[in-house]
This record gives sequence, C-alpha cells and structure tokens, in this order.
Amino acid sequence: MDFRRLGRSGLKVSEISYGNWLTHGSQVEADVATECVKEALEVGITTFDTADVYAGTKAETVLGEALKGVKRESYELFTKVYWPTGAGPNERGLSRKHIVESCHASLRRLQTDHVDLYQAHRFDHETPLEETLQAFDDLVRQGKVMYVGVSEWRAEEIEAALRIADDMGFDRIVSNQPQYSALWRVIEAEIVPLCEKEGVSQIVWSPIAQGVLTGKYLPGQPPPVGSRATDEQGGAHFIKRLMSDDILAAVQELTPLAADAGISMAQLAIGWVLCNPNVASAIVGASRPEQVRDNAAAKALSPDLKQAVDDVLAKVVQTDPALTVSPPKVP
Ligand SMILES: NC(=O)c1ccc[n+]([C@@H]2O[C@H](COP(=O)([O-])OP(=O)(O)OC[C@H]3O[C@@H](n4cnc5c(N)ncnc54)[C@H](OP(=O)(O)O)[C@@H]3O)[C@@H](O)[C@H]2O)c1
Repeated sequence: MDFRRLGRSGLKVSEISYGNWLTHGSQVEADVATECVKEALEVGITTFDTADVYAGTKAETVLGEALKGVKRESYELFTKVYWPTGAGPNERGLSRKHIVESCHASLRRLQTDHVDLYQAHRFDHETPLEETLQAFDDLVRQGKVMYVGVSEWRAEEIEAALRIADDMGFDRIVSNQPQYSALWRVIEAEIVPLCEKEGVSQIVWSPIAQGVLTGKYLPGQPPPVGSRATDEQGGAHFIKRLMSDDILAAVQELTPLAADAGISMAQLAIGWVLCNPNVASAIVGASRPEQVRDNAAAKALSPDLKQAVDDVLAKVVQTDPALTVSPPKVP
C-alpha cells in the first residue's frame, strides 16, 4: 500500500481507504463487516471512512466494534456530520450545537476519544459559516478531532471557508470528499485547481461508480443476485442513475483494456482516480472481503491506459461543475 499526504497537513492516508456507506449495519451482517475490516487491515488499508448518518448511526457502531483491539495509532478514522441523525430540528446541519453533540455521539459509537478527520457532509446554507468553522476549530483544540474536512462543497464554498479560517486563525480544512470516477468528473474544472493551489486534497467516493465500473451490470439484463442494485432497502435507489444502457454498454468496452493490462475492472477504475495527484485517497466500498483484496491492489494507471479509458467513456461522462450541489435547506 502506498500513502499520500492529506492536503498540506502532516497526516498520511492509505491511497485506498475503506468506507462503510450502505454496507455496514445495512446490506451486510456484522460478521461480514468485521471480515471486510480485517481484510482491509491485512492488505495495508489504514484509512476508514464512515458517517453519523450511515445506516441510521449503526454503521459507526459496527465499525467501532470491528476495529476494537486494533492499535489506535495504526489507523486513521474519518467520520462526518450534517445529515439528520434524529427527528429534531437541531439533530442535523452544521450548527455549533449539532456539530458538538454529533461528534460526541460518534466518538461513543466508534469507541475512541478522537477522530482523525471530521467532515462537513454537505454545505449548510442556513448556518453562518463562521459558526460552523469555529465549532470545528474548538473540537480540534479539545483534541477530539485531528483535522477538518468537507464533502461535496463547491469551489466557492471551499474558498470562503479558507478565507474565514485564515482571517480568524481557525484550523484550515485539509480535504474535500467528492464523488469522483471515470464516469463522474465534475470536480475537475473548478474544485481541483482551487484545491491544488490551497493545499486541500480530494478523498474521493464511489471510485467504482458503486460497482458499475466493474462491468458486472449488463445492458438490458437484470442485475446480479446480491449486488447493490438489488438492495431495494438501500443501494438500489442510489445506483439507479448510473444504470442507463448507454453507460453500461460503454463500460463493457473497457473490459479488453483491463484484460490487456492484466488487472481487474475494479482496479482499472480505482487506478484511474489515483492518476489525479490532487486525490489523496480513493474510498472504496466492498460488501465482501474478496472485493477489499481486489480493490486494494489497484495502482495509478499509465498515461496511455488512462487516455484509453477517457476515450471510451467520453460519450457518457459527466463534467458539469454545477452538479456539485448541497440542499438549499438542511433536510
Ligand atoms: N461523502 C459522501 O457524500 C459520500 C457518498 C457516498 C459514499 N461515500 C463514501 O465512499 C465510500 C465508497 O462509496 P461506494 O460504496 O459507493 O464505492 P464504490 O467502491 O464505488 O462501490 C462499492 C460497491 O461496489 C461493489 N464492488 C466493490 N468492489 C468490487 C469488486 N472488486 N468487484 C465487484 N463489485 C465490487 C460492491 O457492491 P455489491 O457487491 O454489493 O454490488 C461495493 O459495495 C462509502 O462507503 C463512503 O465512505 C461518501
């Protein structure tokens, strides 16, 4: 496993990290979740990503249990705050009250006294940005949070946060967590150039497009049994927009490229995002240990192979920066 620095900070993260959205506490049983975490540690993954909201807070509990007994200094634990964790009007968003309360609840569920990265899961248009950044800064000073990041923020939102932090002496954000894959390149036009200049990394989610880039979904065919697209209680809803026949047909054209390179389709997809030097880590999901092992072996593609992937997917790729958007009101 290779490691990359998170933004301009001193923190190193494994370039493949393991995330538990839609899987732990939901699609997979606790014993399979624990096996996936053990496999991740075995193959050299040290960075784990979760969120307070995943599986209605159960995902953090499952991850905390799975990591129990593992030396705390040997892994980096990332979580997030913003989406609702309860019915009340203050159990959501990025107010000081919710940030502090949600952080404490996450620490309890994760069975630790600090998280290594605490991320604003979306931009909160209702709370003053100064309030949010000061609450994060307080948690850093209290030693409960090592570094602060954001997720799915637009370039102008990241820029505003950096200016406030510089003016007020707050801890600066070191990372953004956007969706990024060979099919979803909306960060490239505005976010990546700003972040490169400002020393902010991308930790990217759904690098395999939720499984679509493995080629296992065939155009016009029912999805394979047990796959995310069949999980009607969870994943099927999220993967739907990536499952059009034109996308699935284009993905099939990648199969010979992966075969010629002697790598799996998942490794081709993850290797593609690792070509971007602003990416510190690709957060992979996995519902089985063998997927973790397959994904962890990915390495950045050669420039020629990356270009070949780009050429195949040019007809279906999304690049519009306006597609990065947070809800106008906190849900
Ligand atoms: N910040 C945000 O707003 C946000 C949003 C979404 C995700 N995330 C983070 O990003 C992480 C990854 O997201 P993701 O799960 O969508 O990522 P992904 O790696 O693109 O997709 C993971 C899914 O693809 C399938 N898969 C993975 N490896 C495979 C392989 N080698 N062969 C065949 N199928 C394979 C598995 O689904 P099946 O086997 O079940 O089909 C797996 O659950 C999340 O856990 C979370 O930490 C963040």
